[in-house]
Amino acid sequence: MTHWKVQKAPLIQTEISVPGDKSISHRAVIIAGLSNGSCAIKGFLPSEDCMRTVDAMRALGVEIDQPEPTTLVVHGTKKKLIAPKGDIDCGNSGTTMRLLAGLLSAQPFRSRLIGDSSLSRRPMKRIIEPLTEMGAQITAEGQRQTPPLVIEGTKPHAIQYFMPISSAQVKSAILLAALFAKGKTTVTEPNQSRDHTERMLSYFLVRPHKDDLSVSVHGEQTPESRDFVVPGDISSAAFWLVAAAVQPRSHLLVKDVGLNETRTGILGVLLRMGAHVSEIIEDVEEGEPRGTVVIEGAKLKGTMIQGREIPNVIDEIPILAVAGALASGVTVIADAKELRVKETDRLAAIATNLRAMGAEVTEREDGLEIIGGAPLQGARLQSFGDHRIAMAFAIAGLFAEGDTVIDDIDCVATSYPNFYETLEQIMKPKREQQTPVISSLPSQSGIEIKP
Ligand code: S3P
Repeated sequence: MTHWKVQKAPLIQTEISVPGDKSISHRAVIIAGLSNGSCAIKGFLPSEDCMRTVDAMRALGVEIDQPEPTTLVVHGTKKKLIAPKGDIDCGNSGTTMRLLAGLLSAQPFRSRLIGDSSLSRRPMKRIIEPLTEMGAQITAEGQRQTPPLVIEGTKPHAIQYFMPISSAQVKSAILLAALFAKGKTTVTEPNQSRDHTERMLSYFLVRPHKDDLSVSVHGEQTPESRDFVVPGDISSAAFWLVAAAVQPRSHLLVKDVGLNETRTGILGVLLRMGAHVSEIIEDVEEGEPRGTVVIEGAKLKGTMIQGREIPNVIDEIPILAVAGALASGVTVIADAKELRVKETDRLAAIATNLRAMGAEVTEREDGLEIIGGAPLQGARLQSFGDHRIAMAFAIAGLFAEGDTVIDDIDCVATSYPNFYETLEQIMKPKREQQTPVISSLPSQSGIEIKP
């Protein structure tokens, strides 16, 4: 299939689960691969991006079995990797390239990381600078310090690094290299970005120390092998949460989803816009909070998304912009210049597609101003090769007059291969839906947040 055709949705009253968290799946494979034994990883996301990380770790000598798509058994190497036989292809995955660059900077061999045309345009100076300070020699072969990257690794020096931008990928690259250094490495970021690497290191009994916006790790530690269950991806749930939030009388329950507070910013934004949101944390045993989210739709109003909140909703901005277009009043997104260097220039892509659907949008260097409330019109839209743009505008199509066609949707396989199956389930008239209508919340105690 190369395009999707989306029609108006009936009221959403259902229960869903979402595939495993992408960020956590990458980290689980890498950290388990460095550990001192075998680790079973359940709930793994077998998407194209995460499989790039699996293949890369295999190329570095880690044995990984995959008895079923969402289960991996990773045989740790006690941090002893071997030189890859050829280039490591990271495909579309920025997380694979940046995290591996950290790891490879600390190995006694040369490696070369390549990516697809989108990844080959993405900035790598942000990792080259700290990793060079740690001792690696990194050559970016592209113009403007872009991939391919040739990395001559070495035993790294411990450093203290102040990141100019908040980025979990940069922070993680440094922390992974730091595992091989002598002494304590500290990374400080301007605002809190997702903290999955720190949590997973801690779960694997490497003891990072967290102090406000800084995290430190003592090198020369080997992760202790552990089994791990990946929770559902809140960034994948985000599409369905918005689809329910924008429609009064909709009611959606998302089961077994990650509720790490560095990722749940979308719940706060939807709450501010007027949706009813309940978040029930059921488990934190493996270091990552997970549980259930219940959302009831309402007539949403516009909001401001900016500053410290941005890293927490960085991947949700496309779908939150769609929510803004469907809400009354103005939604402003600011301090989000990072979106210009994601899988595509997401600010430009969102503005182009919302305008094609009839919304009034002003594009700023670091954000967008969206005048919400005008009915959206079905249109033929591009994904710009970006999975989150494709999925966000499929959701917009559920609320537009007439058909919406999204072209070039193969990119969705990078993060959410089964997205369309859930979309079809939601597009079906209610009497045909197989899943039950939810009438009660789970019985566990939890936090309930309502406007
Ligand atoms: C990710 C971090 C974020 C996010 C990306 C995944 C991660 O990127 O946008 O989809 O897994 O660390 P930055 O760290 O560059 O902001």
